[in-house]
Amino acid sequence: MTRLSSATGAPHATILGIGSYRPDRVVPNSELVEAIDSSDEWIQQRSGIKERRFAGPDESVQMMSVAASRKALDRAGIEPAQIDCVIVATVSHMLQTPAIATAIGYELGTDKAPAFDISAACAGFCHGVALGSDMIRGGSAKHVLVIGVERLTDITSLSDRGTAFIFADGAGAAVLGPADEPGIGPVVWGSDGEQFDLIRQKEDWRDVLVQDRPEMPHLIMQGSAVFRWASFEMAKIAQATLDRSGISVDDLDVFVPHQANMRIIDAMARSMKLPERVRIARDIAHQGNTSAASIPLALDRMIDDGEARSGDTALLIAFGAGLAYAAQVVTIP
Ligand code: COA
Repeated sequence: MTRLSSATGAPHATILGIGSYRPDRVVPNSELVEAIDSSDEWIQQRSGIKERRFAGPDESVQMMSVAASRKALDRAGIEPAQIDCVIVATVSHMLQTPAIATAIGYELGTDKAPAFDISAACAGFCHGVALGSDMIRGGSAKHVLVIGVERLTDITSLSDRGTAFIFADGAGAAVLGPADEPGIGPVVWGSDGEQFDLIRQKEDWRDVLVQDRPEMPHLIMQGSAVFRWASFEMAKIAQATLDRSGISVDDLDVFVPHQANMRIIDAMARSMKLPERVRIARDIAHQGNTSAASIPLALDRMIDDGEARSGDTALLIAFGAGLAYAAQVVTIP
C-alpha cells in the first residue's frame, strides 16, 4: 500500500481579531407592537429587547459581512490575501447556491481561498470557530475568516406574534490563526433532531410555489418549548465546556451566550453559579436576536465598551434551530 504524507498544523489556534457591522436603522418596540397586538412593556419584560436593527436595501448579507470582516482583519493585522479559508454561517442568504462566502472572499481579496457556507442557525458562528480552529491545528489552513451574518427580516413576518419582535439583522466576524498557547478551547456541540420543528422555516419552497398567492415562508417558533430547553439544557452544556477546557467558573472573565432572550441569559448565569464579577453580554437589549451574528456582535460590543479585555477568558455558547448547539472557551484577542 502506498503511504500518503499527511498535513500537520499549528500546535494551537486562537482568535486574532473580531469585527462587526450593525445596520443603520434602529427599530424600537413601539414600531412593531400594533401589528402583533403587543406592547413595549410586554416585549421588554418577556425578552429584554428594547430595540433592534433592521437592514436597509443596501445592507445585504454580503455588504454587512465585508464590513464586519474588514474590521476583524484590521484588528488582527492580517491582509485578506493571508486568509486560507472563508466560512460563513447564515440562514438568510437567499440564493440556494452558490455559497455567499465565495462572493465575500472575492470582494475582500482573499485570493481564491476556499469559501463555503454552513447552516447551523443560531449556533453557526460557534460551529465555524470550531471548524476553523481544527483546520489550523490540522494543517489545512493557517488563517481562517469566520463570519456570522443574518438578514432575518427577509424571512420574518412582522405580523407573527411569536417572532416579529425577536429577530433582527447584522454581521460579526473573527479572524483565527495559529498560536503557541491554546486560545480556543475544545468545542462541545451537538443537535437534537427530535425537536426539528421547534424553530423552522414555515414551509418547504416546493409547497410555497404551488399556492395561489405564494408568500415568503417565514420563520416560526414554539417559543415556550425553546425557552425551557435553552434555560435548562444549555447550562449543562456550558458546564461541560468549562470542564473540557479544564477550567471552572472562577477562571472566567466574560460570558457570551447567544442573544436569544434576556431571561434565558439570566437563567443560565444562575444555574452556572457565575460569580458576580463575570461580565455578561447583554447585547439583546439593543440588537434583538441576530442568530448566527449574535455572538460576534455581542463580543465586539463588549470589546468596544472595554467590558472584554485582551487576554480575558470568555465562554461562548450558542443554540437554536435544529435544535443545534456549540460552545467553546476562548481568549479575547
Ligand atoms: N405580545 C403580547 N402577548 C403575547 C405575545 C406578544 N408578542 N406573544 C404571546 N403573547 C401572549 C400569549 O398569548 C400568552 O397569553 P395567555 O397567557 O393569555 O395565553 C402569553 O403572552 C404567554 O405566551 P408565551 O408564548 O408562553 O410567552 P413566553 O413567556 O414564553 O415568551 C418568548 C415568549 C418568545 C419571548 C419566549 O418564549 C422566548 O424567548 N423563547 C425562546 C426563544 C429563543 O430562545 N430562541 C432561540 C433560538 S433562535
